[in-house]
Amino acid sequence: MIRPILIHPDPRLKKACDPVTDITEEVKRLAEDMLETMYAAPGIGLAAPQVGVTRRVLVMDCIKDGPPEPMVLINPQTVWASEDVSTYEEGCLSIPDQYAEVKRPSAVTVRWTGLDGAEEERTFGGLWATCVQHEMDHLDGKLFIDYLGPLKRQMITRKMEKLKRERARAI
Ligand code: NI
Repeated sequence: MIRPILIHPDPRLKKACDPVTDITEEVKRLAEDMLETMYAAPGIGLAAPQVGVTRRVLVMDCIKDGPPEPMVLINPQTVWASEDVSTYEEGCLSIPDQYAEVKRPSAVTVRWTGLDGAEEERTFGGLWATCVQHEMDHLDGKLFIDYLGPLKRQMITRKMEKLKRERARAI
């Protein structure tokens, strides 16, 4: 089921999310819905707070050509980050049509729990590294625009407030 994606500003996007303690049917359904919502958007990553669930769950798939590689990360934690940094032009499904360059470590090692309850660890590079860090930020209530200067951030926030007013009127 495709769930509605929250648009910034929204208090649920600013919250530090709670860890998942049990992989219940509800968590499995959430992950499945998040993947469906992400692919439909379309996007390469989505965090649970973006669909209004403030739990530490994210999904991603950064494969552009070739068979999809859907990933579900529960309670992800960074265990290593490279000193090298990369700059990517980032966007966010909660901040539609706005893009800005953000610097982040080029590679990160992340540990998480899979949907089967097993602990997993992987080192991500390239777009995957940017994506996983962007999505993990969401779990701490942080958006990519928080890396920008205050003027740029305010400008984008005002555009989003306007977009939300327009959407509310359209319903
Ligand atoms: Ni995002």
